[in-house]
Amino acid sequence: MPVQPVAIAGSKILITGPTGQVAAPVIDAWAGTAELTALARFSDPAQRSALEEKGVRCLAADLADPTALQGLPDDFDYVVNLAVVKTDSFDYDLAANAEGLGRLMLHCRNVRAFLHMSSTAVYEYAGHEPRAEGAPLGDNHRTMFPTYSISKIAAETVCRFVARQFGIPATIARLSVPYGNNGGWPWYHLLMMEQGMPIDVHPERPNLYNLLHADDYVEKLPLLLAAATTDVTTVNFGGSQAVGIEEWCAFLSELTGLEPEFRDNPAAFGSLAIDSQRMHDLIGPTRVDWREGVRNMVTTLSPQLLKPGT
Ligand SMILES: NC(=O)c1ccc[n+]([C@@H]2O[C@H](COP(=O)([O-])OP(=O)(O)OC[C@H]3O[C@@H](n4cnc5c(N)ncnc54)[C@H](OP(=O)(O)O)[C@@H]3O)[C@@H](O)[C@H]2O)c1
Repeated sequence: MPVQPVAIAGSKILITGPTGQVAAPVIDAWAGTAELTALARFSDPAQRSALEEKGVRCLAADLADPTALQGLPDDFDYVVNLAVVKTDSFDYDLAANAEGLGRLMLHCRNVRAFLHMSSTAVYEYAGHEPRAEGAPLGDNHRTMFPTYSISKIAAETVCRFVARQFGIPATIARLSVPYGNNGGWPWYHLLMMEQGMPIDVHPERPNLYNLLHADDYVEKLPLLLAAATTDVTTVNFGGSQAVGIEEWCAFLSELTGLEPEFRDNPAAFGSLAIDSQRMHDLIGPTRVDWREGVRNMVTTLSPQLLKPGT
């Protein structure tokens, strides 16, 4: 049974990781309608000012620091955890991404729902097999981001433990490939094509992912919050269409005339398509056709690259 979305308007919502790629469209959509608080280290003060100008209250805290949340507000209706850190330090990344998540949940234990953004990077490589939520986990992204998959798996475990132990309704959403008019992986590919840089792909082609447009994830977050349970709902979160890197690059080529140069690399991530059954049952299919989303992205970010008449 699909869930009914929670009301964003008028709610007090804490968003962590507010200066990141995924959060930006969410904040733009919710600022002014919800009472938003943003938490990050705010290493770049300009990013903090930009949020404050949108009416977002900002809290500076390093989630890796065990004392960082002391004295900070805790009276939120919802928390959306989009903070993530990817350094090469396992100590720091596990402290921020996993322990920090546990402390944040305890700090905000009276929320109506806690949404933790995970990643399909938690799944073991399995070729073209669409990954269902019960599929084996693995250190998928090790070659590019040494600590990422392990700390995302650790974070999920902390989230389940704290939610069950302390009765906090939570959802873990395993995000595929987010993109939109503020960028994302297909845009990086376009920049690589422009620079004539080779794009590494796994030799088992096509390399399938579920591109998720920002308009879709902004629409789905209130449903993911509504799906939260104290036993924790874990669900894949991607676009309903699986698309290959090869196919979206071919489309970028159609739009711009730039040619992708693919380089086979067995160490590249490889296909990570999701089984979307549980997602569809809970929150329904996504709406944005990937070609339309990619076209809008190029029109917004790199209009000078479009072929005349495209
Ligand atoms: N982008 C993708 O392609 C993708 C794909 C799958 C899943 N996801 C997941 O989606 C979520 C959002 O990802 P994203 O790409 O938007 O992240 P991002 O662009 O790397 O941004 C990370 C955010 O986390 C904050 N942050 C980092 N370290 C922190 C710390 N120690 N304490 C507090 N805040 C910290 C950063 O701000 P400061 O540096 O100022 O602290 C920033 O606001 C993450 O859970 C990620 O795993 C993303």
